[in-house]
Amino acid sequence: MKIIKVTDYEEMSQTACNIILGKVKDKKHLVLGLATGSTPEGLYRCMIQAYKEGKISFQNIVTFNLDEYLNLHQDHPNSYHHYMKKKFFDHIDIPKKNIHLPDGMATSYIQECQQYDEKIRRAGNIDIQVLGLGVNGHIGFNEPGTSFKIRTHVVNLDQITRKTNSKFFRDIQDVPKKAITMGIANIMESKEILLLVSGKKKELALARLINEEISEQFPASILKRHQNVTIIADRAALPNLC
Ligand code: F6R
Repeated sequence: MKIIKVTDYEEMSQTACNIILGKVKDKKHLVLGLATGSTPEGLYRCMIQAYKEGKISFQNIVTFNLDEYLNLHQDHPNSYHHYMKKKFFDHIDIPKKNIHLPDGMATSYIQECQQYDEKIRRAGNIDIQVLGLGVNGHIGFNEPGTSFKIRTHVVNLDQITRKTNSKFFRDIQDVPKKAITMGIANIMESKEILLLVSGKKKELALARLINEEISEQFPASILKRHQNVTIIADRAALPNLC
């Protein structure tokens, strides 16, 4: 794993943005894996700005998001469909047909998971996957104890995850109990992974990722087995390497 240490959230976002825009420019057809949550918001702002300044076009990218809550309508303000529209897709020139998120309202979740895997496979797998890090070590919504072999599946969200994500909802009771997520196997098949980590709240999780053995009890630890992972972490998340 390569670690790029940056000063703060802004520099983390800018660094990730430069890496991704470099790939978008280089490759005719880029398959980009995307995350939601607080971590990638600055990255999306930076990519939107580059687009508005005429420096980049997203016409030829195809995107796959990691996850979506179950039973939240796509227009619900807390759905990840809504998040992605408002924070990224509505502001760039990506064709709608190139955007993929798991459907949390699907009538058959088993079918939805299989189809999502199939779409990723048909797109030629993910070229570069953006990840945030859960305080409990989750990546996507692969919670502690998830098999490393699993592909897209339905999860019961950890109580810690629901509590952490309640900051986006009115109340913890409103946070869905289940979600669909790409599995660890999907993530590990990405050709390149960018893990973004910012803030003191992530310090312990990042230290565990770096120092502990690979274990399904700490899902992000699997990244140590991937050939092309870059962690971009700020000082607050990685104080010991100051
Ligand atoms: C979001 C996702 C999650 C988040 C993680 C960190 O699509 O897959 O793994 O990346 O929960 O969330 P934030 O960035 O809000 O700290």
